[in-house]
Amino acid sequence: MRIIAVDNYEEMSIKAAKIIASQIILKPDSILGLATGSTPVGMYKELINMYKNRELDFSNVKTFNLDEYYGLSEENDQSYHYFMRKNLFNYINVKEKNIHIPNGNVADIEAECENYEKVIKESGGIDIQVLGIGGNGHIGFNEPDINFEASTHLVNLTQDTIEANSRFFSSIEEVPTKAISMGIKTIMQSKKILLLANGEGKADAVYGMIKGKISPEVPASILQLHNDVTVIVDKEASSKL
Ligand code: GLP
Repeated sequence: MRIIAVDNYEEMSIKAAKIIASQIILKPDSILGLATGSTPVGMYKELINMYKNRELDFSNVKTFNLDEYYGLSEENDQSYHYFMRKNLFNYINVKEKNIHIPNGNVADIEAECENYEKVIKESGGIDIQVLGIGGNGHIGFNEPDINFEASTHLVNLTQDTIEANSRFFSSIEEVPTKAISMGIKTIMQSKKILLLANGEGKADAVYGMIKGKISPEVPASILQLHNDVTVIVDKEASSKL
């Protein structure tokens, strides 16, 4: 793992955007794996600025998001479809047909999960996957468990995650209890991984990911086995290393 220590959120966001930008410059038809949550929002702002300044062109880029809540429509302002439009897609020239996000609002979830895996494979695989990390060590929505779930699947969210994400909803009762998430194998098959973590609430998870034993109880710890992971951490998130 390559650890880049930075002072604050802004520095983390700028460095992360530069890494994604160089990926796109080197390979204009890159397949990007994208994440939601508050962590990557600053990086997305930087990427939008680079696009506006004509430093970046997303016209041949394809994107695959990590996850989506189960049971929310794409128009729901808490869905990750909505989040991605609001924080990135509405402001860059990525083509609609090249955007992929699991659909959490279909009758046949199993078919949706299988198809998501198939489309990722057919695209040639993810060149760089952006990840945040949950306070409990989750990546995507792969929650601490007794096993690693390999491929895209339906997840029961843990109480920790429901509580953490309730800050975006008007009440905790509105937070979906399930989600669709890429699996651990899906994530591990990405050619490169870029994980961002900031704030003291992530310090234990960051410690477990980098120094802890590899265990499905801290899903991010599996990243120790990937050979091209870059972690950008601010002072608070790296305080326990
Ligand atoms: C969410 C997402 C993850 C994200 C994590 C941390 O539930 N499913 O992809 O990395 O939790 O979120 P945040 O960046 O808001 O701390």
